[in-house]
Amino acid sequence: MRLNKTVLPDIEALSHAVLEAILANVKDAVAKRGRFGIALSGGHTPAKLYAMWGTTEKYRDETPWNEVHIFWGDERYVPANDPLSNYRMTKQTLLAHVPIPEANVHPVPTELPTPEKAAEAYEADLRRYFGAAKPRFDVTLLGIGGEGHTASLFPGSFALDEKKRWVLAVVVPATPPNRLTFTPVLLDQSVNTYFLVAGKDKREILTSIQSEPEGKPSEYPAARIRPEDGRVIWFLDEAAAG
Ligand code: 6PG
Repeated sequence: MRLNKTVLPDIEALSHAVLEAILANVKDAVAKRGRFGIALSGGHTPAKLYAMWGTTEKYRDETPWNEVHIFWGDERYVPANDPLSNYRMTKQTLLAHVPIPEANVHPVPTELPTPEKAAEAYEADLRRYFGAAKPRFDVTLLGIGGEGHTASLFPGSFALDEKKRWVLAVVVPATPPNRLTFTPVLLDQSVNTYFLVAGKDKREILTSIQSEPEGKPSEYPAARIRPEDGRVIWFLDEAAAG
C-alpha cells in the first residue's frame, strides 16, 4: 500500500511540520465554520508537539484558543491524574500553558464507574459538539504501534467492524488493557488525518504496510483508516522511514 508520507530529519522537525499544518487548518476552519475541532492521540510521539504548541510563542499566540475544541481519539481507562492517562500527558505538555476555555477541553470521562458508561458518555459529548452536522474533525492525530494498532484499535478487534457507534470500550493486549477508543465510523470522517511516526522501532510495521497489495483491506488497523473525503498524511522521521 502506498503511503502519502512526508519524511522529516527528526522528531523536532516532524513536530514543527505537523504544527504548521495544524495552524493552517485552524485558520481555515475558524474562517469557514467559526471553530476548530481536533482529536488528539496519546502515547509518547505527540508529546513533543504538544509541548511545542504550548510553549513556543509563535504557535501558542497564533492559535485562537477560544475557537479550539480538544478531544482524544482514545484514552486509557485510568483516573485523569494517572501517569498512563493521555489527558494527563496533554495537560502537562499543552493545556497547562495555553488560555483555552475549560468548556473547550473534552476529556474522556474515565471517572465513570465502567468503561462502557465512559464510552456512552463520551459519544453523547461528541454528539452534542457536532449536533446535526457530520462528525468531521478538522484534524485527527494518530500514532501506530509495532503491531499496527492506532488509537486503541488493535489487530483483530471487534471495534474495527463497528458500523454505528463512535466510541467503544475495548480490552487490548497492552498496558493498561481497558481503553476507550474512537471507531472507524468517526475516524473515517476526518478532514485531515495526520499520523505521527518516529523511531526505528516503527520501521518494520511501516515496511509491512507498504508491502501490502493495494485494494485489499489491510490487516493493520492504522492502514485501514481511509477517510471518505479527507486526506491522510504520514509524518515520519528518518529513523522510522529507514
Ligand atoms: C495510546 C495511543 C496509541 C499510540 C500508539 C503509538 O493511547 O497509546 O493513542 O494509539 O498512538 O501506541 O504510541 P507511541 O507514540 O508511544 O509509539
